[in-house]
Amino acid sequence: MIKLANINFKDPLIIASGIVPLNKIKEVCEKYNPSGITTKTLTLYPLSPHNPPTLVKFHDKCYLNAIGLGNPGIQELKKLEEINCPLIVSIGGNNLDEIVESARKVDRGIILELNVSSPNRKGYGESLSNYVHEIVKNVKGVTDKPVFVKLGPWDNVLELAGKALSAGADGLTLINTIKGMIIDTENFEKILHYGTGGISGKCIHPLAVRIIHDIYREYNVDIIGMGGVFDGRDVIELMSVGAKLVGLGSVIIDEGYNSILRIRKELEEYLNEKGLKYSDIIGLAVKR
Ligand SMILES: Cc1cc2nc3c(=O)[nH]c(=O)nc-3n(C[C@H](O)[C@H](O)[C@H](O)COP(=O)(O)O)c2cc1C
Repeated sequence: MIKLANINFKDPLIIASGIVPLNKIKEVCEKYNPSGITTKTLTLYPLSPHNPPTLVKFHDKCYLNAIGLGNPGIQELKKLEEINCPLIVSIGGNNLDEIVESARKVDRGIILELNVSSPNRKGYGESLSNYVHEIVKNVKGVTDKPVFVKLGPWDNVLELAGKALSAGADGLTLINTIKGMIIDTENFEKILHYGTGGISGKCIHPLAVRIIHDIYREYNVDIIGMGGVFDGRDVIELMSVGAKLVGLGSVIIDEGYNSILRIRKELEEYLNEKGLKYSDIIGLAVKR
């Protein structure tokens, strides 16, 4: 059992935002029973995805995506059938009012995740982070749910995390993708139609480890960690630097939902072999 934001979770494995479409959530919950499923980031109004290609595998276990927060809009949350898995509702927007209005409409889920870090649509990511304190304060004013703020692996992430926490955030989700670009050397065109995209998967794993470590050391706060988790050892590694829950993203794109079962088994084997519990591992590698 793991306690995060005063909620008990059976194990650390959840699914990160942007991986399960709303209409698949029930099926994924029933078949794979993750400890939590995060919705795609939902905005007040529907957004069309960018033109394809929007997702490319550029290296073993590494992806670049520019879906651009394409989503059916927050009102679709109402159509989601009842599920037996804890639901984390991710919301975004391109200004304070839109985000607060979306937060007000969230009547499902156990955690509200504020995505202020998408690198794939102008106005919905890094530029918002300047207002993170104001956004969190206002969202906390319209919801009773614990609010987790999702940040990207930027140089000022420690400072932004501090602003989010001082405004009342209950925890942080770390890390979102970081902007990259790949070029086709046959025709010298950018491979993604949008030009840039968010890097995810193994290629950002050490970045996730470093950022979770630094934020946990500084603030000792509840963290949902993610970034390049492909096996049980990766989960343990993120927990050892302070993550309580760990999100699976690119691994599911790479291998399918069965990766949840494989990683769960690897975790159980690790704990049995070492005679450890999850609570023994959280923050173990962080020296204060
Ligand atoms: C195809 C794709 C779509 C994503 N969409 C979202 C999104 O809507 N909202 C969000 O907060 N993060 C989104 N992410 C970021 C993931 O939730 C996660 O933070 C990131 O991919 C790092 O985890 P990973 O390396 O395990 O994929 C997306 C990632 C991918 C690969």
